[in-house]
Parts: sequence; C-alpha cells; structure tokens
Amino acid sequence: MARVRCCTDLDKTVLTQNFDKRFWTSVTPDEDWNFYWASVTTVRSIFNPSNDHPRLTDNQVVNHFPNHYELTRKDLMVKNIKRYRRELEKDGNMLAEKDEYGLYRYLDFIPVTYMMPADYNLFADDFRRDPNHTWIMKPAGRAQGKGIFLINKMSQIKKWSRDGKSIATTAQPRETYVISKYIDNPLLIGGKKFDLRLYVLVTSFKPLKCYLFRLGFGRFCTVKYISSTNDIDNMFVHLTNVSYQKQSEDYNSIHGGKWSIDNLRLYLEGTRGKKLTDRLFDEMCWIIVHSLRAAAAVITSDRHCFECYGYDIIIDDNLKPWLIEVNASPSLTSTTANDRIMKFKLINDILNIVLPNGDIPDIRNKFTNSTPEVLGNFDVLYDEEQACCELNDKDYREQKARGGIVPLISKTGTSFGKTKQSSAWR
Ligand SMILES: Nc1ncnc2c1ncn2[C@@H]1O[C@H](COP(=O)(O)OP(=O)(O)O)[C@@H](O)[C@H]1O
Ligand SMILES: [Mg+2]
Repeated sequence: MARVRCCTDLDKTVLTQNFDKRFWTSVTPDEDWNFYWASVTTVRSIFNPSNDHPRLTDNQVVNHFPNHYELTRKDLMVKNIKRYRRELEKDGNMLAEKDEYGLYRYLDFIPVTYMMPADYNLFADDFRRDPNHTWIMKPAGRAQGKGIFLINKMSQIKKWSRDGKSIATTAQPRETYVISKYIDNPLLIGGKKFDLRLYVLVTSFKPLKCYLFRLGFGRFCTVKYISSTNDIDNMFVHLTNVSYQKQSEDYNSIHGGKWSIDNLRLYLEGTRGKKLTDRLFDEMCWIIVHSLRAAAAVITSDRHCFECYGYDIIIDDNLKPWLIEVNASPSLTSTTANDRIMKFKLINDILNIVLPNGDIPDIRNKFTNSTPEVLGNFDVLYDEEQACCELNDKDYREQKARGGIVPLISKTGTSFGKTKQSSAWR
C-alpha cells in the first residue's frame, strides 16, 4: 500500500508524532503531497486564483476551508449568524420565533454585538438604553486576547474612536473591532471565571457534516471575579485565554488552569442537577450546529478540505451557554502532561476520520466511502445528509417546547433523540 505523503508548516510535535506513528512519508510543500496541515495563510494562498498554485489533485487534502474566515473572524461570524436568523425569520421558520422581549427564543446564543466603527451609532443608542452595562472591545481579526479591553463609559469609546481616526491612513485603514455586551454573570467555579474550549471537526459544509470531540476543557482565569466593573482593567480576571493567563504570577503550570469537560459535567450535576446539566450540554450542541449552518451558506465547501475549529463558549450563572468565537487554528501547543495526551488524541482521531484506514485520500469518494467511520473520541454531531430526511423544524420546536433538547444530532444507528453524541457527554 502506498504511503501517505504528508507535510506541515507548523512546528508541532502532536502533528509530527501522529504522522510518524502512521509511517507516513514526510515531504516538503513543494513536493507531491497528499496531506498538508498548513497555516491559514498557506491555505489561503493555495486557493488564491491569482497565485499560480497548481490545482489540487483528487489525492490531496488540506486542513482549512478556503474562506473559513466567514466563521472564524469575529465580525463575519456575527454577520453570518445575524443573516441566518433574518433569513429563517423571513421564511416564517418557527426557529426564528421571538419572545415577548423581542429576543430570539432559540437562536439568541451570541452576545449583542456591533461592528466598530461602522455601527457606532447603533451601539451608542444601545448603550444609552442601558448605561450601566459593561461592553468588551475586540479586534475582529486577532487572537489570544490581544487588543481586547472592557468599557463601561461612553467617553472610553469616544476616545478610542478619536485615537483610531488620528492614526488611520489610506494605506493602513483602522482595524475593525467588534463591541459585544459583556457576559457579566459568568458561572464561577472557585470564584473564577472560565470558558469552554470545544473542538469541532467539519468534513463538509454542503451537506454539513460535523463531529464533536468529547475531550474539551474549561480554561480558568487566575484571579477571582467579583463583578464586571471590579478590576475592569485587570485582564487576568476577565480573559480566559491560556496564552494570556500564563503570564500571571498565579498561573499553575501543573494543571495549567484547565479542567476537563468530564469533571465540569460532574461538578455541574452535583451542584445544579442532572436535568439542567444535560440541557446545557445539549444547548451547546445546538449552538455549534446552528453557527455552522449559518456559515454553510457562504463557505466554499471544497472537497479537498476539512477543518478543526476551536469553539469558545461561556456559560452564565443561569447555565445558558453563549458562543463567544470560533477559532480556525486552535492552539496545538501543550501546556501540561494531560494537555499533550489530549491533543495527541485530537490529531489522531481527526486523521482517522479524514483519511480512513490511513489510505491515500481520494476526494471523489468523500461522500461515498462505505467503511464504518472510526470516530475515536469524536461523535457525529450533525450529518445533514441523514438528518434532512429524518428531522424537520417541527421536531425541533416540539422537543424544545417540551423543555427538552432539540435533537439535532443525526441518527447513528441508535434510536431518535438517544444519540451517540448525547450519551457521550453524559
Ligand atoms: N462577550 C463576552 N463576555 C464575557 N467575556 C468575554 C466576551 N467576549 C470575550 N470574552 C472573554 O475574552 C476572551 C477572549 O475573547 P475572544 O473573543 O475569544 O478573542 P480572542 O480571539 O482574543 O481569543 C474569551 O475567551 C472570554 O474569556
Ligand atoms: Mg478566543
């Protein structure tokens, strides 16, 4: 059997160890490769028609979709989710139903967000309606907590606006920011704020096929959270990014401020009960699938591509999950021994799904491969091909109306609603 010829332009041992384990042949990007784990910049240039990169062959796959930024740039993700809700509403779809406060009953899962400076006036109106709320300013295209700050006075945003205007030039226009309502009632554990990092593999957007990795984790702040206005400038209280918290003198390198999703689940079942915990986890699945469906309308579902997204989700103290952002290149750096093991499994399981049996890929078989999937720690979260004939919006509503969870997950041989996925989380 011919060996897969692989390459990467990231210097990550979890990748190279997984390639070596399979006895794949390492080649350079200029050689003939079958599997390329590349940076987003490389993938963009591979698909850029103005670069004379040779067309990919049927035996080549890469780890990003060409315009993944429709989901992974903060401003575009919000834009696409807003558009998706509007479209459902226009179609009279009951999923876009609103409550008595004008909020989407089922699709209100991102904090209210405006683009800056484009939506400055809309933001200002909103701010005036509720002048005591704290907001968070984030550069649309950056990561790792860089450039983020909190505001709770209009004068702060005016100053940002003035400063930005003075440094912007035609050659270098000012950076786009998003301003989001700060979730000021995060669920605290041990007095500290945390968010969740969940890994989601997408092998196709049209039809949507996605998988959820069971070994996600919580990322904790190092300094206790009192309120949004307390320590408003101390980002060790407010930003859960590990790359940021690592710089704190209270950072613990043994546990790395991380807590497995299994432990979190046990803790929540113990403190809030099983019913609410189950509901929270199912709602997280719900928001992941709907964010992907929102992006699917605009993402080029190239058959050569798959992508593993890092979802950032905050749980508030009412156990409502909020989608904060989606990362195209979740960190593959390991901060602790457990982290190394988990990330090794993540890559291992992705490779097993994307290249079944370790065979050379052939994208012509992408949707026809009949061999049972080896899912490892992944579970199928949504398989549109199966789901579209089995689920419909009426099911969603009825289920939700019963106070239950919306069974978005495709059937994988088990009975309806009792999916492999949901049992995996429990
Ligand atoms: N609306 C929000 N409410 C509360 N905390 C937030 C909000 N948005 C971001 N954060 C916090 O800031 C961190 C970084 O924000 P994020 O949008 O993920 O940007 P980055 O790309 O820099 O990671 C998040 O992980 C979370 O801890
Ligand atoms: Mg983030």
